[in-house]
Amino acid sequence: MKKIGLVGAGTMGQGIILTTIQSNCDVFVYESDDNSLNRAQQNLRKYYDKEILKSRVTEALAREHLAKVHFVKNIQELFACEVVVEAIIEDPQAKRELFSLLSSVVSDNCILATNTSSLSISSLASVVRNPERFIGIHFFNPAHLMKLVEVIPAIQTSDETVHFVKNLLLACNKIPVIAKDTPGFIVNRIARPYYGEALKIYEEGIAEPVDIDFAMTQTGFKMGPFALMDFIGNDINFQVTEIVYNSFFQDPKYRPSFTQKRLVEAGYFGVKTGRGFYSYAENANRPIVNITPADAQYISDRIVIMLINEAVDALFFNIATKEDIEISMTKGVNYPKGLLRWADDFGIEECVKRMDDLFNVYHDTRYRCSPLLRKMTKLNQKFY
Ligand SMILES: NC(=O)c1ccc[n+]([C@@H]2O[C@H](COP(=O)([O-])OP(=O)(O)OC[C@H]3O[C@@H](n4cnc5c(N)ncnc54)[C@H](O)[C@@H]3O)[C@@H](O)[C@H]2O)c1
Repeated sequence: MKKIGLVGAGTMGQGIILTTIQSNCDVFVYESDDNSLNRAQQNLRKYYDKEILKSRVTEALAREHLAKVHFVKNIQELFACEVVVEAIIEDPQAKRELFSLLSSVVSDNCILATNTSSLSISSLASVVRNPERFIGIHFFNPAHLMKLVEVIPAIQTSDETVHFVKNLLLACNKIPVIAKDTPGFIVNRIARPYYGEALKIYEEGIAEPVDIDFAMTQTGFKMGPFALMDFIGNDINFQVTEIVYNSFFQDPKYRPSFTQKRLVEAGYFGVKTGRGFYSYAENANRPIVNITPADAQYISDRIVIMLINEAVDALFFNIATKEDIEISMTKGVNYPKGLLRWADDFGIEECVKRMDDLFNVYHDTRYRCSPLLRKMTKLNQKFY
């Protein structure tokens, strides 16, 4: 049984609370905003009321779980926690201030962790007293349901800290994968072409969003890229793309799209605002799919090869192991198949050819083939 601290009880914080209390840990929660605190308390209660109604938990178990949540008024009350996870707003200054304060509150044995999606873990580690006990723990939303968790050691983090966090997550019934401290970690990096290439195909006038979505769902993806961007929120999705693009020193592979920028500027965020690429008005009809099988195949092949190339490049740059890359994309974003396995199925030589064909059309380094694919072709290798 562990004492976990949590700072920030918003969307992610609430999922992290559920994860910890369902794993027999006590969680000590510090939230600075009274309204957010009340909302979090109500949401937790509502969550258990629903679970009881659906007979998924008994009243007694719900009471037992909820008794493990301790909302504290003062951050000093986190002093006895073995791990403190930060899930406050994505503001580097706010996070830095919080960690330097936390660092003076907790014991020398405590591990401090950030749930940041986009900031460098090493830069946040630099403000704490024991940077070797600092780490990134990147949950996915909703944190209590999504099994995958990216664990990101800073360059300062010790092996013991990584080991401890990995075991803690396994005990919480999660699937931890280890990612290098680079923009987007694993999932948010490798998934970029799913949105970026779909947007480019649309901008080139090859097909409409509904046709591109059809091509991808036919291939086995749960949601098409446009439906998914509307679901995530074009504001959030555009911001992540922009951060990844700028963090990679404006690598054309991650270039954001004007189409999505305009949508954001117009306030067409997607499902949450009632309009995005599609209309979500009450009696709105989805546009009708109008695409030939050959065009659908072209679109799917083009997006999938870009995803494969990105996954191979992540392996080439040691962002994660082969296994962790495959698990991340199948468990984290429910891809129908691991991208490295998909490369084998296409044939490695064929992957190189498809990337080179795209490069020859566009002469844009966005379409540069991963050196690892070329090397494997020469050596006649496969991933499996
Ligand atoms: N939302 C997602 O899908 C998602 C997924 C993975 C990671 N993340 C990351 O998780 C973090 C939290 O995101 P979120 O979506 O839960 O945000 P959110 O806005 O829903 O919640 C943030 C909470 O932190 C509180 N807060 C702000 N400053 C604080 C402080 N100094 N002390 C205590 N509480 C403070 C706010 O009042 C708010 O309740 C961000 O770093 C984000 O990048 C978000």
